[in-house]
Amino acid sequence: MKSRFPGGPFGFALGALALGAAVATPAQAQPQSFPWRDPGLSPDARADLVLGQMTQDEKIALIHGNFPRVMKPAPPPGVVLSAGFIAGVPRLGLPDLRESDASLGVAAAGRKDDDAAALPSGMLLASTWNADVAFAGGAMIGKETRQKGFNVLLNGGVNLTRDPFNGRNFEYLGEDPLLAGTLAGAAIRGIQSQHVVSTAKHYLMNDQETGRGVYDARIGEAAMRESDLLAFEIAIKTGQPGSVMCAYNRINGAYACENPHTLTDVLKTDWGWKGWVMSDWGAVHSVDAAAAGLDQESGQELDRQVFFDQPLRLALASGKLTPARLDDMVRRILRSEFAFGLVDPVPAPGPLDVQADARVSQAAAEAGIVLLKNDGNVLPLAANAKRIAVIGGHADLGVLSGGGSSQVIPLGSQVLPRPPGSPEWVEGTVYHPSAPLPAIKARAQGEVTFQSGQNLPAAIAAAKAADVAIVFVEQWASEAIDVPIRLSPEQEALIEQVAAANPRTIVVLENGGPLLMPWLGKVKGVVEAWYPGMRGGEAIARILFGEINPSGRLPATFAADAGQLPRARPVGADRPQPAGAAPDAGAAFPVDYAEGSSAGYRWFAEKGSKPLFPFGYGLSYTRFRYGALQTTGGRALTASLAVTNTGQREGVETVQLYLKKGPARAQRRLLGWAQVKLKPGETRTVQITAEPKLLADWNDGAHGWTIAQGRYDVFAGPNAESPAASAAVQLDAQTLAP
Ligand code: BGC
Repeated sequence: MKSRFPGGPFGFALGALALGAAVATPAQAQPQSFPWRDPGLSPDARADLVLGQMTQDEKIALIHGNFPRVMKPAPPPGVVLSAGFIAGVPRLGLPDLRESDASLGVAAAGRKDDDAAALPSGMLLASTWNADVAFAGGAMIGKETRQKGFNVLLNGGVNLTRDPFNGRNFEYLGEDPLLAGTLAGAAIRGIQSQHVVSTAKHYLMNDQETGRGVYDARIGEAAMRESDLLAFEIAIKTGQPGSVMCAYNRINGAYACENPHTLTDVLKTDWGWKGWVMSDWGAVHSVDAAAAGLDQESGQELDRQVFFDQPLRLALASGKLTPARLDDMVRRILRSEFAFGLVDPVPAPGPLDVQADARVSQAAAEAGIVLLKNDGNVLPLAANAKRIAVIGGHADLGVLSGGGSSQVIPLGSQVLPRPPGSPEWVEGTVYHPSAPLPAIKARAQGEVTFQSGQNLPAAIAAAKAADVAIVFVEQWASEAIDVPIRLSPEQEALIEQVAAANPRTIVVLENGGPLLMPWLGKVKGVVEAWYPGMRGGEAIARILFGEINPSGRLPATFAADAGQLPRARPVGADRPQPAGAAPDAGAAFPVDYAEGSSAGYRWFAEKGSKPLFPFGYGLSYTRFRYGALQTTGGRALTASLAVTNTGQREGVETVQLYLKKGPARAQRRLLGWAQVKLKPGETRTVQITAEPKLLADWNDGAHGWTIAQGRYDVFAGPNAESPAASAAVQLDAQTLAP
């Protein structure tokens, strides 16, 4: 793949384009007499009726699209800078497809002074373990998508956190297929509740950014079905996105957008999914992608040529591509347009209310920030903490966000220059407008000082003079790069020096994915705030001061040392790169996923490695006691147990049910979870039904899932490494369809 912006980052001049221009209301263009106007017909029937009226040129125009940000000549008036634009067919009442990035809000995409709201990162959303929060976030950004004149949102990143260094981990939902798939499905449903098509991406195995355009992910079929594919399967079956975006990389030899197995055999045939596959921007390499299962070439300006126009016409003429397949491609797009309310008139979404939307973001942040360490109950900050030293992390400026196409820049954000080595097209290092420092000052009873951390002696002096020191540390991550798995040496030194100066030192992390913490033993408290979104500073302060009892749980394992990881560095990081090449370009190379489906905590359990913080881990300001685990088996595994809040304040516990060992093999797997809010002293019984595919193994010969008959050892606990109550249960033999 070439650089994302072949003509230079922002070197092209586009005229000022109206932001917020309404999508042409199809109702106005659509005579009553069109038979597909009848909402009583199924989306399939309506799609067929329109398809029957379309010329070949109209069909072909629908299967390849522009990237307005780099489009030449400039896009038609009213088309805003964004990721994608495909003109509709006014004579048939078909709307334009106006596509915006993405998962964390309506991305800025080069527009200045946009006023979109920004959710926290995907990693933080996954830390909520709460599908309602994911749905609410999806509904909020889906609403803004329409308010800003778009009708397709390129969200739904559900690639697994196989490697902590993946620069896009912050866009995704952690390492577990059930957790990631469930939350992605809920977010997709939220978005599509707003008459917007949602995507799931990047299908498949785009699990690192280094060489993403050229690497070949090598992994066995069963391993893939039980991990990365399963995350997509759950997201797609529960969310029913109108579209799926195929990735840049190859999978077992074939490009993800040209891969008949993953696109046609699995996604469309096995799963029976009826939406359309769009390519990632610059991910199409030949017209053969159409026969393999790609339905639409996106961002055609980034491909070597527009494959789904002239080359596709030639393929049709030569019989290489059948007219039936072209119709299938178009029908899938049309079907989603009908199914998700892009064609029928829908009530206007009303004006943007950024404050209301910001509250959705804040609620998510408050539910997902994870308390990792709290020795001696250093938190919540005691009323007698009269002098607080806040140090580092631009805590006076805002909260960090991740870079790349997903970048949302709410009004009031501060944009610092992009770090060296980052892609030339990123907007810079964006701090969302919710600085922790004023939020801390607003709550503190005494003096709060601030040191940037640049001047180490000054930071040490401030820490010495205070009752408690709060060190903010950060790691910027972005699309198109991978990142170190430790903080910068300067920040690690800052933590250690401050901790040496003040025994009550608390670290607040703003980062994209799991990190090593060689300094952990030196500090009293650690708060994992991820990228907490546009109200993140408020959320952090509320947790520090105990207005919120933290309930976030890690969606990915934190290793104790690099040697525990399947890979400590991105594969291909050392390959020779031509000078000036985009970080995601260069010669092809393989990435062998030798751990197979044992990503994350499964790998740690298999190796018997003790992580620094296990998957599912997180502390609360209260404590919980688990009762005995009751299970029923047979054809379904259900578990129930009583949980008691034995502490002093109300709190939320996430009770997790894990498979330890089945009759066929031992692989630790999250089977399900339940969240319960308990008052001090209160006891409640939670019930968890295991997701059947997590009990099953993929059986390639039988082309399906097999649950072996026999004994299954399971446990419930507060994380993947802490069984609090165990049981053994007998299950019947079963096969499950793919
Ligand atoms: C990213 C996608 C994004 C697309 C459009 C690509 O570079 O990988 O996630 O949706 O660009 O901006």
